[in-house]
Amino acid sequence: MEKLVIEGGYTLKGKVEVSGSKNASLPIIAATILCDGEYKIDNVPNLRDVRTLLKLLSLLNIESRLDRSKVLLKNKNDNGAYEAPYDLVKTMRASILVLGPLLAKRRKARVSLPGGCAIGERPVDQHIKALKQMGATIDIEHGYIVAECDSLKGADIYFDLVTVTGTENVLMAAVLAKGKTTIYNAAIEPEVIDLANFLIKMGAKIEGVGTKTITVYGVDSLSPANYSVMNDRIEAATLMCAAAITGGDVEIVGVPQEYLTTVFEKLSETGVNIEFVDDKKVRVYSLGRLKAADVTTQVYPGFPTDLQAQFMALMCVADGVSVVTETIFENRFMHVAELKRMGADIRLKDRSAVVNGVKRLSGAHVMASDLRASASLVIAGLVAEGETHVHRIYHLDRGYEFFDKKLNGLGAKIKREKNGV
Ligand code: UD1
Repeated sequence: MEKLVIEGGYTLKGKVEVSGSKNASLPIIAATILCDGEYKIDNVPNLRDVRTLLKLLSLLNIESRLDRSKVLLKNKNDNGAYEAPYDLVKTMRASILVLGPLLAKRRKARVSLPGGCAIGERPVDQHIKALKQMGATIDIEHGYIVAECDSLKGADIYFDLVTVTGTENVLMAAVLAKGKTTIYNAAIEPEVIDLANFLIKMGAKIEGVGTKTITVYGVDSLSPANYSVMNDRIEAATLMCAAAITGGDVEIVGVPQEYLTTVFEKLSETGVNIEFVDDKKVRVYSLGRLKAADVTTQVYPGFPTDLQAQFMALMCVADGVSVVTETIFENRFMHVAELKRMGADIRLKDRSAVVNGVKRLSGAHVMASDLRASASLVIAGLVAEGETHVHRIYHLDRGYEFFDKKLNGLGAKIKREKNGV
């Protein structure tokens, strides 16, 4: 297995570009199930998760070619193909995103239940409940969600909690349902807005995008469309954390600034300097030791759970004590034990981590447990004394395009080796 070997102690300097958003690309690509024809989707990151979804679509008779950051897709509509097998779903939970569009277009879906993952149980009960309300018959058989309908009907959907992919699945189902669907307590994450904009470009009728109540008026059919995906706000913020921890000075190009207000505020609180060069570019620099700051993850526009681990790496070497509280996932602290192996002083108490900043971390062998945890370990490795070996970086490759290359372009010393465990 591949690992990253990071030689700590180099200050990051220079310019780096943010890639297209993974979490926006996945639902947008899944939405091509909704209509046969050809699509060109731009600004898609070349990532393992994207390739997994394209492999899944090929089983559904949707051909694709990923060429740099462009995906060309050809949906040859085949109502006989409606299965997302365990082999693929187990490597990427977001495969659940094919459930809504398959039901809406092919009237049938057999999608492996995602099951738990390193950051918690992560059920999909809200997806299932909503699609049943829209007229689907859904059973769980042999570990699969087996769903069928004559046609989906509009309904009033009340989510018990805010779910990003749940909202996306229902949106994709509702655009071809008969009548009006209202989604209450909808997710307002920017990636949901990007999906809705793509669906609107395909001819969907959607109102209230970006608010907690979305109304969809079902149409009889859609048309294929071309689209350019938004940039990745989590990657942008991760790069900011990497620059900041090294006391660096980095210009980050392609930052979706309007979606990062909370993150900018939190980083400023720790003493990171953020300069808005223009509406796309942000200069990040830090001088001296960062200050401890408490953070609590929340649904958008709160502080993203997908940035909790990276922020914690900063807090590990900040001056003072910070409390990092995770409210979205019940078990998203797998990075804590690994950061402690590098000398971090962290105590876990219920859903919080109390981080007592230390003067220095020391390089160690650490194991990536999930996507964002792996980014956190790489960030910590940038300032640790000696070498940090981050194992199981297939997690990192699921969600960060050229992460090690981008950091090396800024002066980091990271090698990719094959002899990981
Ligand atoms: C998406 C993002 C992920 C991010 C998360 C929260 C994608 C591909 N992934 O994941 O990067 O960390 O949003 O911002 O966009 N829940 C239920 N029942 C459900 C659905 C969710 O109990 O049916 C719970 C989950 O276990 C979790 C919370 O709701 O505790 C939020 O999950 P959700 O927003 O659905 O996360 P994902 O959409 O899977």
